[in-house]
Amino acid sequence: MTVASQDPSTSSPGRRIKLRVNGDEYESEVDPRMTLVDYLREVLGLTATHVGCEHGVCGVCNVLVDGRAVRGCLMLAVQADGREVRTVEGLAEGGKLHPIQEAFIEEHGLQCGFCTGGFMMALCELLESNPNASQEELKEVVGGQLCRCTGYNSIMRAAQNAAAKMGATGS
Ligand code: FES
Ligand code: FES
Repeated sequence: MTVASQDPSTSSPGRRIKLRVNGDEYESEVDPRMTLVDYLREVLGLTATHVGCEHGVCGVCNVLVDGRAVRGCLMLAVQADGREVRTVEGLAEGGKLHPIQEAFIEEHGLQCGFCTGGFMMALCELLESNPNASQEELKEVVGGQLCRCTGYNSIMRAAQNAAAKMGATGS
């Protein structure tokens, strides 16, 4: 288990939390007002989850909590106590990219990449539970996140490609 703590100069009286992130167990004392995305980035150093609007709109902060996609800016770190969190850093396994990551590369599903982790985690929630998701289901997930660069066509192609890969492998 890793003990990771918030900078004490920026915190109010802390709450102790224990959670698993990408398979590793962490125990930390955190400010009860700290959001989950700030905890992941600032305390654990997992900076691939980005922060955009901080209002639950853009989706760049998406992570999986017990397998469900949540906006990390709308959840407090203390609410993740005892939960299993998965971030975009946890997608690749054993040096092999996740099929969703491969699909984004193959279909040029990103430009600046700021939004990409959020799309990947939202698609991960859908496709790992239902690799045979319909076009409408894919569209609903893709339409729930904001991208300022790609125009969405290449992201939809990446989502379709990922669904095909995951449906084929049953992963
Ligand atoms: S930063 Fe969380 S939804 Fe935009
Ligand atoms: S790739 Fe730049 S915001 Fe989506």
